[in-house]
Amino acid sequence: MSESEEPLIEAAKRARLQSVAPFSNFLVGAAVKTEGGKVYTGCNVESASYGLTVCAERVAIWKALSEGERNFTELAVVADTETLTPPCGTCRQIIWEFAKGATIVFANLDGKREEFHIADLLPRAFDARFLKNK
Ligand code: THU
Repeated sequence: MSESEEPLIEAAKRARLQSVAPFSNFLVGAAVKTEGGKVYTGCNVESASYGLTVCAERVAIWKALSEGERNFTELAVVADTETLTPPCGTCRQIIWEFAKGATIVFANLDGKREEFHIADLLPRAFDARFLKNK
């Protein structure tokens, strides 16, 4: 784990405190860093229609994409769990499509961290290549 990821983890921790999670009370924060060094954060936002809930990772990625960003170097995900919380399956797909090159850091509030790449979290992923390969 490189120490240079700590500021991104801190940004994800701050974003986590904005979580709108009245149903699960499970607070998650995320932060993505762009090639240019900008940071976009996200928190999970839950809907009373539970299936409409959006995870912290996707909120961060949507915010960055909607500001025109396309290239990401790091993504941090923070939750208060002893076993580090990984991105859900839906987020893995979105990370594969939009932040493939990013180093993904899972972190908790006790200083535990682990690094991954999306190819290891989502092997044999589906993406736009298949749509052109009939
Ligand atoms: N959640 C995230 O925001 N990111 C994850 O990586 C796992 C799950 C959220 C969705 C929901 O608001 C709550 O955690 C419980 O599933």
